[in-house]
Amino acid sequence: MIHELLANDPLLAATRAAEHLRCVTKLGTHDIALVLGSGWGDAVGSIGCTEHAVAMVDVPDFRKPNVPGHGGEIRSISAGSHRILAFLGRTHLNDKLGVNATAHAVRTAHQMGCTTVILTNGAGSLNPFWLPGFVAVIMDHDNQTGVSPLGPAEFICMNDAYSPRLWQTCFDLRRDLGRAVYVQVPGPEYETPAQIRRIRAQYAQSFGSMYEDPRKSGLLVGMSTGIETITARALDMEVLGLSLVTNLAAGMSPLPLNHKEVLDTGHAHAPELGRLLADILERM
Ligand code: HPA
Repeated sequence: MIHELLANDPLLAATRAAEHLRCVTKLGTHDIALVLGSGWGDAVGSIGCTEHAVAMVDVPDFRKPNVPGHGGEIRSISAGSHRILAFLGRTHLNDKLGVNATAHAVRTAHQMGCTTVILTNGAGSLNPFWLPGFVAVIMDHDNQTGVSPLGPAEFICMNDAYSPRLWQTCFDLRRDLGRAVYVQVPGPEYETPAQIRRIRAQYAQSFGSMYEDPRKSGLLVGMSTGIETITARALDMEVLGLSLVTNLAAGMSPLPLNHKEVLDTGHAHAPELGRLLADILERM
């Protein structure tokens, strides 16, 4: 059962979680939150020095993530001039704990002083040039879950939801990163090939004109990140989204999709992902 407070007063729930974390870390404030999604967990060791680690189950209104490979820890990491609050794993909408459980980490990070959040995920690629191991910067998202973390009449602007300043930081660093529109689907089942064809068709007109080079830009599909970005933007946090391609989307590969493939891709690429995160953080 999810705590009633999280359902009824998510901001108070986040304040309590932050108080607990502040007690544990004995540090007043953090500046950057980092959510490590599928495939990214092994990269955390490379980004700085872990000062404190706490199990998510011990922090108010957090749960141990259901997804294998999501470590279930919150770490306070010092990296150069930054103090990073890293979440090893996340709560997905399809954990069925309610949208506020999915938004809780971002709201807690905001209460901890974070003004920026880096959201990472493993994603399926609709771009045949983007094979497992490829990394793309999220330029925009399409929330196809039918759910929002915001309350009634919270009419926030979602233009430039993913910070152009932060994409530019990434592209200055690594010219080979892709430019993605990330489509958040509800899951937990992977898509059918028909769903993927529909998503491709929905973008057939607009996508080419938005981003010109077909090798550099594309669609990704995954089960996270969009809801967290909406949460962060409502709190005026700057968002950077990074996706690791873990598979070609349904119907594009003869292999069945499975979560093991997602984790194996992460393990195989952990050193590069760690280096990329460390380099980005250094320039932030
Ligand atoms: N679809 C949805 N979510 C995913 C996928 C996918 O193909 N790969 C990793 N997460």
